[in-house]
Amino acid sequence: MRSNYCGELNETFVGQQVEICGWVHRRRDHGGVIFLDLRDREGLAQVVFDPDTVEAFALAETVRNEFVVKVKGLVRPRPDGTSNSDLGTGAIEVLGKELVVLNAAATPPFQLDEHAAVGEDIRLRYRYVDLRRPEMTERLRFRSKVTNTVRNFLDDNGFIDVETPLLTKATPEGARDYLVPSRTHPNRFFALPQSPQLFKQILMAAGMDRYYQIAKCFRDEDLRADRQPEFTQIDVETSFMDEEQIMSTMESMIKGIFKKHLDVDLGEFPRMPFAEAMNRYGSDKPDLRIDLELVDIADLMKDVDFKVFSGPANDSESRVVALRVPNGVDISRKIIDEYTKYVSIFGAKGLAWVKVNDLAAGIEGLQSPILKFMPEEVIQSLLEKLGAQTGDILFFGADKAKIVNEALGALRIKVAEDLGQVKDMWAPLWVVDFPMFETNSEGNLTSLHHPFTAPACSVEALKDSPATALSRAYDMVLNGTELGGGSIRINQPEMQQSVFAVLGIGEEEAQEKFGFLLDALSYGCPPHGGIAFGLDRLIMLMTGATSIRDVIAFPKTQSAACPLTEAPGEVSTKQLRELNIRLREQPKPEAE
Ligand code: AMO
Ligand code: AMP
Repeated sequence: MRSNYCGELNETFVGQQVEICGWVHRRRDHGGVIFLDLRDREGLAQVVFDPDTVEAFALAETVRNEFVVKVKGLVRPRPDGTSNSDLGTGAIEVLGKELVVLNAAATPPFQLDEHAAVGEDIRLRYRYVDLRRPEMTERLRFRSKVTNTVRNFLDDNGFIDVETPLLTKATPEGARDYLVPSRTHPNRFFALPQSPQLFKQILMAAGMDRYYQIAKCFRDEDLRADRQPEFTQIDVETSFMDEEQIMSTMESMIKGIFKKHLDVDLGEFPRMPFAEAMNRYGSDKPDLRIDLELVDIADLMKDVDFKVFSGPANDSESRVVALRVPNGVDISRKIIDEYTKYVSIFGAKGLAWVKVNDLAAGIEGLQSPILKFMPEEVIQSLLEKLGAQTGDILFFGADKAKIVNEALGALRIKVAEDLGQVKDMWAPLWVVDFPMFETNSEGNLTSLHHPFTAPACSVEALKDSPATALSRAYDMVLNGTELGGGSIRINQPEMQQSVFAVLGIGEEEAQEKFGFLLDALSYGCPPHGGIAFGLDRLIMLMTGATSIRDVIAFPKTQSAACPLTEAPGEVSTKQLRELNIRLREQPKPEAE
């Protein structure tokens, strides 16, 4: 049907007859000749129809944007002065001899180059039009190349690609499950996997030694720019390797991908303990492109009159921190008010600040709503501790550690973005030495990763002091995004039972939910560990997209729906009956 892609034509084709197919990107009538910019996956080619090719010319007059056509014609150089160096095909054009309309198109819901003006809902509703945009096509193609590199790397390193079930039992990763009713087992449900975690561990018990899968995962959780209900992991598990070997293998995989596809050398990834990341950046996925750091100042604030600071300064579960922002002195009151509102999202009750207008002028050179509450020597020590300079603004957070970390950690990034202080670089790192557990809002311990992560201590030490136990987990972070996370796993039933016990999962419940895993651990399970990377996030970062929705062909909206297919949809009563399901009555709309 076609001899060449539109986008591959160039001077070397001059004088040749070609047949090209594609979408009419634009049609222009120019003093008796008609130009069609014809677009396919590989690019655009300009086709010209002269009135002397009567039939083709007449048809060309009728085609509109996004018609699918086939053109037979002769490649010739563009006339002097009309070549377009922005276009790969810009030096040539095709003199059209024959034109066939393969499919007429209704007026598209939006013009491809005006996509930004339409809402994302429209783009997703007409995703096939949106995906025709070269930027979108290119991202999907890039994704395909990267997965190919991943497969080759893992294959070369002895990993076996094994598929694991999608209709399965709950695999806890901290989100809600998507459930699927079973027709053949009334009143029972499958869960779609939040990850292949348990199956990959069982594959290690099965002696597979090294496994990988580019796996779909399902999590019913609050969605954000880097979270989808259905997403893809590069999922990896190995036996008889310790964390050092796993991290170094995975680091070389990611480095290889960046080198091959972006020609970027990521260098050796630094390691940072979780506690340090939280202290310095308020986050377990610090963005190291930003120099700003949180500095603890509780030691200086223990005795000040300002209760907002002295209270938390004397409480072991709280923090008082300062964030010194060079060149921030011109931030206006209005913006400070906006920042105050921003940190309140994370529960901060305020945002104290000090502007250093002139360091040499002492107290007189400072401007702040809180200095009146502090003795001069405390202010001096504070400035020294922070290394304050003329031109700085200092922000302060004082509250429970969780609130301060989240609020000031997020402010650090926002301020750096606003002031152009995010360096143009790639900043990867490993975060290590995570705690096994964190305390949830009800005061119970929950797994920081998942319950199958091995602690770095003995069963006895874990039982004695679970809240302080560290795990053998590691996360890979890139530019402030958690790219992947993994760990060495528990391979002894006794340790697994102990972790379940800390989590408040009794023996009976453990047996009911995870009996199959406990069995596998007791029938000869090797030491093993692994990791999973978010493929969508990796591609988002590498392509510079701002959301993973832009690197997924058919993503869901913020409310986890698909505007294209209108899923989730209603089902017939017959189907429900077969599934033994009766819907609860719809709540009636409230009467006015
Ligand atoms: P974890 O839950 O950390 O670990 O997930 C691994 C990686 O998957 C990506 N990711 C997501 N991407 C898009 N949308 C989501 N909703 C989403 N949730 C997670 C992140 C994350 O780093 N089984 C363990 C891995 C292991 O221990 O081997 C797991 O799933 O990039
Ligand atoms: P107030 O005395 O409550 O008016 O607060 C004085 C300053 O401290 C204001 O700039 C508040 O925004 C700020 N502030 C109040 N609570 C906190 C807090 N928990 N952490 C940091 N700053 C705060």
